[in-house]
Amino acid sequence: MHKDIESILVCEKEIENIVNSIAKLIEKDYNCREFIMIGILKGSMTFMADLMRKINMDFSVDFISASSYQGAYSTGNLEIYRDIDCDVSGKDILIVEDIVDTGVTLEHIKKHLIEKNAKSVKICTLFDKPAERKVDIFPDYTGLTVPDVFIVGYGLDYNELYRNLPYVGILNPSVYT
Ligand code: IMP
Ligand code: MG
Repeated sequence: MHKDIESILVCEKEIENIVNSIAKLIEKDYNCREFIMIGILKGSMTFMADLMRKINMDFSVDFISASSYQGAYSTGNLEIYRDIDCDVSGKDILIVEDIVDTGVTLEHIKKHLIEKNAKSVKICTLFDKPAERKVDIFPDYTGLTVPDVFIVGYGLDYNELYRNLPYVGILNPSVYT
């Protein structure tokens, strides 16, 4: 185990099982209806790479790199570093995210895609941390609901580190306090 990890929350085998069961649900729900899978960079990359290979149907993939920020007097805006390439107009969209925390990022990305005339926008997240939720965002697919702890690994980072860990662990608070 990495020295900065306090404990392992989800091991590699458990992640695999979670990914497999989400893939089955997506296959069943979309039932050969084509959709566009849009990953939110960078955190979702590992999850999405595994998930897409378990879904046995036709779909295209794209990525968006964005994060939400709170302006002094605003309720939060979306800063897009890299927008999607594809035309989502009239298309069914499945957003793939690593973890939903306040929900602000996803609320903005969902709105952004609806403004581009997406037909439907669903959310698939590996982790849900509902304790810190600030907006009404309800993921359609959730791998695991987690307590209010800071987790890293399997794509999730702290200061761009730990994304390469094959498991998801609770980061030792001494690293960030
Ligand atoms: P929010 O839902 O807008 O608050 O932002 C969610 C984003 O915050 C996620 O996509 C992650 O990038 C990041 N985040 C939230 N909680 C954690 C965590 O426990 N570990 C790593 N990243 C996190
Ligand atoms: Mg993220």
